Amino acid sequence: MEIAMIAAIDQQNAIGLDGDQLVYLSGDLKRFKQLTKGHAIVMGRKTFNALPKGALSDRLNIVLTKNPDLSFPGCTVVTSIEAAIEAADGHQKLFIIGGGKVYQSFMHLTQRLYLTHIDHSFEGADTWFPKIYPQKWRVIEKEGPFTDDKSGLRYYYETLEKAGS
Ligand SMILES: NC(=O)c1ccc[n+]([C@@H]2O[C@H](COP(=O)([O-])OP(=O)(O)OC[C@H]3O[C@@H](n4cnc5c(N)ncnc54)[C@H](OP(=O)(O)O)[C@@H]3O)[C@@H](O)[C@H]2O)c1
Repeated sequence: MEIAMIAAIDQQNAIGLDGDQLVYLSGDLKRFKQLTKGHAIVMGRKTFNALPKGALSDRLNIVLTKNPDLSFPGCTVVTSIEAAIEAADGHQKLFIIGGGKVYQSFMHLTQRLYLTHIDHSFEGADTWFPKIYPQKWRVIEKEGPFTDDKSGLRYYYETLEKAGS
């Protein structure tokens, strides 16, 4: 099973603000769905809580929490990284979809990063993607730039593979 991360990051590596995304880019949301559909996704309890409609359809939703008593409709709840990987057994791909704490925890196990780089620095951001060390990753694909109609923000996609994987 391949472990991959998918994240939208700003110029400072920020990913969140007040428990929510920095911005919703419709093109990026479509790409997220297209890439993750049919696969397993892992998210932290806080990221799950911020999903407007709960579990995401057509994907195995795995939620990480330290509280074993929690349950969420349509989700497999796990209390460790190992249990998250076990829960995804049989899937071709496991996507780590955030947030900051969960990205950090899975970084050493991840082979691929699907990043959306937003050409902006968001004031007040309070959650960040882990530092990406260029010597550890090689860019295998770049797409864009695009401009979001609603916000006017420019963004591009970048896929990175861990060196040696
Ligand atoms: N830009 C993006 O692509 C993107 C993607 C996703 C999220 N985000 C943003 O990121 C922010 C949320 O990130 P966050 O770091 O605050 O929270 P988070 O990673 O979503 O969730 C943290 C929670 O997950 C559980 N958890 C994390 N690691 C665990 C482990 N190893 N074992 C057991 N439980 C674990 C804990 O839940 P309990 O407290 O219940 O124990 C922890 O409090 C939001 O602003 C969200 O919008 C951005």
